[in-house]
Amino acid sequence: MDKIIIAIDGYSSCGKSTMAKQIAKALNYIYIDTGAMYRAVTLYALRNGMLDNHDLNEAALIAALPEIKVSFSYNSDLNRSETCLNGENVEQEIRGIEVSNHVSKVAKIKEVRAKMVDLQREMGQQKGLVMDGRDIGTVVFPQAELKIFMTADYKIRARRRFDELQAKGDSTSYEEVLANITNRDMDDTSRTENPLIKADDAVVIDNSEITPEEQLKIALTHIYRILDQK
Ligand code: DC
Repeated sequence: MDKIIIAIDGYSSCGKSTMAKQIAKALNYIYIDTGAMYRAVTLYALRNGMLDNHDLNEAALIAALPEIKVSFSYNSDLNRSETCLNGENVEQEIRGIEVSNHVSKVAKIKEVRAKMVDLQREMGQQKGLVMDGRDIGTVVFPQAELKIFMTADYKIRARRRFDELQAKGDSTSYEEVLANITNRDMDDTSRTENPLIKADDAVVIDNSEITPEEQLKIALTHIYRILDQK
């Protein structure tokens, strides 16, 4: 059967990765979390003194881009792919609040985006891919066979993210998580470079009131309709 590209875009913490992983598992496709790629670059900037308080030394980061290698490695014990920065597994570190608080500044740099978009397109050459992010259906794969735009009420998103962090033993407060989500929504939608916007032909899924199983069912209905026509 022909393979397709499924592009999932949407706001922070609205379950994009949960759904992308569900779909990838159901179809035996590769899943790529592009947010993790911007997070890995942010970690590089933090580790190399390019983020001082709230200021990012953009010129230094752009100059260092050739030295920054972002990749994924498959962890067969956990049955998931993990993000690597210059060969080091940084999957845990990139999920913390420090990286979350700075990632928008890094993700709006044109040169960073160009490098990440090239890498993402390379990963999609064989199709059979589910990719989530903010600009996948609009910029990375405007020809994707299926584009999904996900959304959910911001307080519900903050509560879900807070519960996830708590389960991992992270002591970040609900208020901090809520502030982080509202700030990132603002940054993601208002930046000049590849802002988060719904592609005209994207299917919208609002998962504020539905379960992961229900959202998967909705997505699979669209997917099988497309695959049947191939
Ligand atoms: O999905 P996430 O929260 O892990 O993404 C981290 C940040 O990276 C988010 O604030 C927006 C940015 N991002 C982006 O600009 N473009 C993408 N394709 C994916 C993420």
